Amino acid sequence: METHKQLTIGLFGFGVVGEGLYKVLQQTPSLKASIKKVCIKNPGKRRNAPASLFTTDKNDILNDRDINVIVEVIDNADAAFEIVATALRNGKEVVSASKKMLAEHLPELLALQKETDRSLLYEAAACASIPVIRNLEEYYDNDLLHSIRAIVNGSTNFILTKIFEEGLDFKEALLLAQQLGFAESNPKLDVEGFDAVNKWTLLLNHAYGIVERPENILFNGIQNIQAGDAAVARSKNQQIKLVAQAKKLQNGKVAAFVLPQFVNHDEHLAFVKNEYNGVVIESGFADKQFFYGKGAGSFPTASAVLSDIAALRYHYRYEYKKLYHHTPHELSNDIFLRVFVSFDNLALIPKEKFEWIEEWHAQEERKYLVGVIAFEELKTGTWWKESNTSLVLTPDPVIEDVELRKLKKKSLELAGVAG
Ligand code: HSE
Repeated sequence: METHKQLTIGLFGFGVVGEGLYKVLQQTPSLKASIKKVCIKNPGKRRNAPASLFTTDKNDILNDRDINVIVEVIDNADAAFEIVATALRNGKEVVSASKKMLAEHLPELLALQKETDRSLLYEAAACASIPVIRNLEEYYDNDLLHSIRAIVNGSTNFILTKIFEEGLDFKEALLLAQQLGFAESNPKLDVEGFDAVNKWTLLLNHAYGIVERPENILFNGIQNIQAGDAAVARSKNQQIKLVAQAKKLQNGKVAAFVLPQFVNHDEHLAFVKNEYNGVVIESGFADKQFFYGKGAGSFPTASAVLSDIAALRYHYRYEYKKLYHHTPHELSNDIFLRVFVSFDNLALIPKEKFEWIEEWHAQEERKYLVGVIAFEELKTGTWWKESNTSLVLTPDPVIEDVELRKLKKKSLELAGVAG
C-alpha cells in the first residue's frame, strides 16, 4: 500500500486566509503537514508567528527542494500566476485560493498541469467552505446536470442582507464586510460582480467542461440596486440576491450569467444570508440538491485550503472529466430573459429592444418595467448598467428560443390577429 506523503509547505501570503491556514494547521497535527517558510510582501508588519518563518524572497521557497507543496493565497493575480506556474514547473504540487488569477489564466493552467503532470487544487477559490468544485468534478455525470444556481460572493450577500434586513446603509455594510475580512482588498471586485464571475468561470469548467474568459460571461454586481427595487421585492415576498446561474438548454448548450435576481422567499437561495454562500443543483435523477456554507472569511476559506492539502497526501488531482472525458459543452447566447428594470428617465431605456413589455409602473417614485429581452441585447449593450438604471432578473428568468416563439404565437392568437 502506498504510504501517505509527508507534506512540507511553502506558503505565499499571510493575510486573512494565510494566517487562518497557519492556525488551522497548528490544530491539525495528525495531517503531518508543516509550513517550512512563508513568503510575504511587507516585512514590517507585525505577525503572529515566529520571525524565522518569513521571507520576502519567493525563490527561498520555489527553489527549496524540501518543499513539495506550494500554498498560494496572495492578493495580486499577476504575481500569483508567476508563483503557481514556476511552482508547477519546479515539480511542486500547488494549492491556490486566487480565484481572479485562476479564472483569468484557466487555459494556460490547464496546459501547465498536463505539461508538468502536477496537481493544482483550488477548492477555496469558489464558495470557500462549500466543497463545490470537488462535488461537481467527481459526483455528477455530465448529462445529468440540468442547472446550477448559486450565491458565490459572500461580501455582496452580506451587504444585501445588512441593507435590506437590518437597515444599514451601503457604506456601513461594505465597511463591516471589509473589517470582517470578507471583502477583496479592492471591494469593487465584489460589489461590481467581478469576483462572482471569476468563481463562476471556474465552476462552469468543473460542471460543464466550459473554458471561457470571465469577461465573455454576462455579469453585473449590486452597485445599481436601489431601495425602490428592494421595496418591489418585499411587496412580492421576494428578496434580491446576486445569483450566478447556468442552465442546460434544449439545444444541448449552456446559458450562463451572473446578475442580481429576485428570489422567492421559499426558495433555497433566500435562506442564504450574510457571508454565507449557497448552491442549488438540479440534476436528472437526484432532482434538487442544496449546498450551504460560509463563502468568505479566514477559517472557512482556510478549511477548504486544508482539505486540498489533505487531498494531496493521496495524490488527488482534478481530472477535468467534463472537459477531457466527455464532450465539453458550449455556451449559448440564444435565450431571452424576463427582467425588471428600474430607472429615472424613460427616455434612456431602449424600449424597442424588448420583445415585449409586461408591466409599466410609471407613477411610482422609482419608475420600473418588467419585460422580455434577448440575452444578446444585454451582452452587446451597456445602457442597462448606466445612468442610474437597475436591472434585476425575475425568478425563473430564462426563456428559450422555442418557448419564445410559442409565447409570441399565443399572444397573437389571443389578440385575434394570427394567421
Ligand atoms: N471577497 C470574497 C467574497 C471572498 O466576498 O466572497 C471569498 O472568496
